[in-house]
Amino acid sequence: MLRTHYSSEITEELNGKRVKVAGWVQEVKDLGGIKFVWIRDREGIVQVTAPKKKVPPEIFKLIPKLNSEDVVVVEGIVNFTPKAKLGFEIIPEKFEVISRAQAPLPLDPTGKVKAELDTRLDNRFMDVRNPKVMAIFKIRSNVFRAVREFFYNEGFIEIHTPKIIATATEGGTELFPMKYFENDAFLAQSPQLYKQIMMATGLDKVFEVAPIFRAEEHNTTRHLNEAWSIDAEMAFIENEEEVMDLLERLVVYTIKYVRENNEKELKILEFELEEPKQPFPRITYDKALEILADLGKEIPWGEDIDTEGEKLLGRYIKENEEADLYFIYKYPSEAKPFYIMKYDDKPEICRAFDLEYRGIEISSGGQREHRHEILVEQIKEKGLNPESFEFYLRAFRYGMPPHGGFGLGAERLIMRMLDIGNIREVILFPRDRRRLVP
Ligand code: AMO
Repeated sequence: MLRTHYSSEITEELNGKRVKVAGWVQEVKDLGGIKFVWIRDREGIVQVTAPKKKVPPEIFKLIPKLNSEDVVVVEGIVNFTPKAKLGFEIIPEKFEVISRAQAPLPLDPTGKVKAELDTRLDNRFMDVRNPKVMAIFKIRSNVFRAVREFFYNEGFIEIHTPKIIATATEGGTELFPMKYFENDAFLAQSPQLYKQIMMATGLDKVFEVAPIFRAEEHNTTRHLNEAWSIDAEMAFIENEEEVMDLLERLVVYTIKYVRENNEKELKILEFELEEPKQPFPRITYDKALEILADLGKEIPWGEDIDTEGEKLLGRYIKENEEADLYFIYKYPSEAKPFYIMKYDDKPEICRAFDLEYRGIEISSGGQREHRHEILVEQIKEKGLNPESFEFYLRAFRYGMPPHGGFGLGAERLIMRMLDIGNIREVILFPRDRRRLVP
């Protein structure tokens, strides 16, 4: 390797020892008889100090010629001294420029000079050099790690389902059509039908972490056209509340994991991540409508709660229950997809739920209808043709246990967790209405 240590690994025990560091030139300062270079790597910054009398003359000559963001490798002796800003410096013996950066830079990677989001996304490679941006992606990595750990601990099996599919699952309007040789196909909006089919296999508890594709026409701060979904499905449940319990445990586990393992990144972001209040409040749809009516917002029964309603409710729950995370459940059947089970004794409502994080939906799920005849009826009620669901329906004819699950939007979770206003900030290369490159 071209480096022996990251900046953060240089501790007092290395005082007087030889190390090799590598990274990007953040700043150069020339005081005549002494020159300084600050080099940034993934973990922080190191200071290279070059006093004329102590370093080879070619290094002394090279330093003023460095450009910001050149990639360099420096070998030298560690010197712990209170005179250095960071508590230590490296006195260079070898100094090599291994890749030059052109000037001017497309943006300032230190973040001191602010750039538009579009400029940042067009130059994401440089944007991520900004420690605040990098912190988000280090946290994102741990979110996915925590999710996998959680599911393995709970006895779930990881599955992978096709992303090129023949049938819409979440309504026909948000589909990306594509040609599949001589047939029409679509990019998967969700693994919904496949994860349900898996319930007829005996694997019982499955999860998948994969992209979903939605042809959302509107440019909003919380929709992507390619997002990452954390999906779970489990069999032999008694009711949807068991699925809500699982989702609650998953979200709490993930937030705690980030609190414990990303202290440094949370500090860089100057963000205090609170442990969620448990249990998450569970509010029926009817109750949510009542609260909203009291707040002056009327929503006709049967309709989805719109963005403004969600926000109002989020604020109300924070003020009254001190909770950031809460469920809305017992939705009207007409507002939810065909695969959700209705209450047998009250078919106008169903066993669906949404999980909200400070006024934004981060997950939906529910208990599914596993009884073949009823499922066929529900497909028809939504104006769909059961024949196009034959590959799915056949799994319900040869022994299908009761089951339920959820889809949790990874970007929604992360943006709410870190209180970031725009979903594009938490995915490396967002796909939105206008953005297809990089
Ligand atoms: P739903 O359509 O509500 O449910 O999607 C589940 C979760 O996925 C995330 N999500 C999105 N995130 C960013 N951009 C988008 N365009 C986008 N669309 C969805 C949200 C949302 O809560 N099959 C069901 C889940 C289930 O019942 O298991 C489904 O897809 O966080």
